[in-house]
Amino acid sequence: MNKVDVVLGLQWGDEGKGKIADFLTPKYDIVARFQGGPNAGHSLEFNGTKHVLNTIPSGIFHPTCLNLIGNGVVIDPVRIKAEIERIQDSGIDVVKSLRISRKAHIILPTHRLLDAASEFAKGNDKIGSTLRGIGPTYRDKIGRNGLRIGDLQTPDFKKKYEHIKEEHIGLISFYQYSDFDLNSLEAEFFEACDFLKKFTFIDSEYFVNQELSTKKILAEGAQGSMLDIDFGSYPYVTSSNTSSGGACTGLGIAPQVIGKVSGIFKAYCTRVGSGPFPTELEDEIGENLRKKGNEFGATTGRPRRCGWLDLVALRYAIMLSGVNELIMMKSDVLSGFETVKVCTGYNAGGIETDQVPFDLCTTDVKPVYKEFKGWEEDITVCRNLSDLPENFMVYLRFLEKELNMPISIISVGPDREQTIMRLSATA
Ligand code: GDP
Ligand code: IMO
Ligand code: MG
Repeated sequence: MNKVDVVLGLQWGDEGKGKIADFLTPKYDIVARFQGGPNAGHSLEFNGTKHVLNTIPSGIFHPTCLNLIGNGVVIDPVRIKAEIERIQDSGIDVVKSLRISRKAHIILPTHRLLDAASEFAKGNDKIGSTLRGIGPTYRDKIGRNGLRIGDLQTPDFKKKYEHIKEEHIGLISFYQYSDFDLNSLEAEFFEACDFLKKFTFIDSEYFVNQELSTKKILAEGAQGSMLDIDFGSYPYVTSSNTSSGGACTGLGIAPQVIGKVSGIFKAYCTRVGSGPFPTELEDEIGENLRKKGNEFGATTGRPRRCGWLDLVALRYAIMLSGVNELIMMKSDVLSGFETVKVCTGYNAGGIETDQVPFDLCTTDVKPVYKEFKGWEEDITVCRNLSDLPENFMVYLRFLEKELNMPISIISVGPDREQTIMRLSATA
């Protein structure tokens, strides 16, 4: 029987999961998203066009690939409708290529309002949520109060909806939040629910396990390990398990069915939203990384905070997901810096450590850096390892040694073509 390979982000999201999932898709029959929702923005670029996906898996532009939204994902009918219409405009038959788990939970208009109300109430302590209703929807899922995609096909959907809505309205007024027009939000919501009914809803746990006998499946994560609900910098996290355990629960597969786990990281770090970020550069270098890396959110357009690569966080993420292949993104962005730094350890409250402290939010963490001589060469045109400058290779070899694992794919630009394969970086 085949195994399910996984690609996931090892940092604070936006590592380039969309590009890599799309790049690897020709080796797979099915690409499946296992958690998160429209808080994600996964960019892919080919033939001179950039596409941004939020809920739809990144295999959608390959006509022979089937794309599955697993039970671990939360779906906003309004957002997915707009996303599907955008994809259809580029000639893709989404009805044919997409399957949706009946057990995926639905983001209701009041979930989005609750997200906004709760962030509003937190003031300066806000999470920096994408305001897509993710937290409140997962909260209702865990609280056994949610509505699922399969419920759309039941006669009492509207009744169940009204019941939950009433509860939500009570909560929203508790937050003293009143800046909305629920009638118009509901009108577009029910229209989008009807639109969704033309897609195929399945019991995807049976589907995935059955298909594995003949098909190759790639599981695509969203967000990144440092935003994991259990292991990220709580409470500045998202509301799902972004590590490989999330692929098991989000698709209904056993741990021994997981095959290769490819961990994606940028050659530096970014974070969008609030929360601790030990290697953050609030200076000209950080500004330069943002400019050169075009570090603005694919979903919200917010500027991303930038900093040097953090090996303490990266090792932690590799451990949590059992990563056995590394993929380095945005290597090209580091060209032109006189010096490139890497955080090899933390000084946490005066004590040197190579572990992430219990509470990154309240511990005074200072990164310990190793410095490398930079390189001037533009590497966006490189297609082979031998084209890369020696100073870059020194940096790369150091990372491989520190992380005890080869870096199998090196990305040197946003386009599919700007990808250098090493070793056996194939399915
Ligand atoms: P994801 O959420 O992990 O899929 O990542 P995003 O799409 O949010 O952010 C990654 C951004 O970097 C997108 O704008 C990509 O087009 C871009 N990108 C991906 N790989 C590279 C790369 O190697 N170099 C550069 N310069 N940009 C890249
Ligand atoms: P992709 O899949 C980067 C961040 C938000 C916020 C926190 C909680 O594109 O990598 P939420 O809306 O989930 O309640 O927000 O998580 N966040 C992301 N940051 N990339 C993402 O997704 C993110 N999804 C959520 O900025 O700090
Ligand atoms: Mg993104």
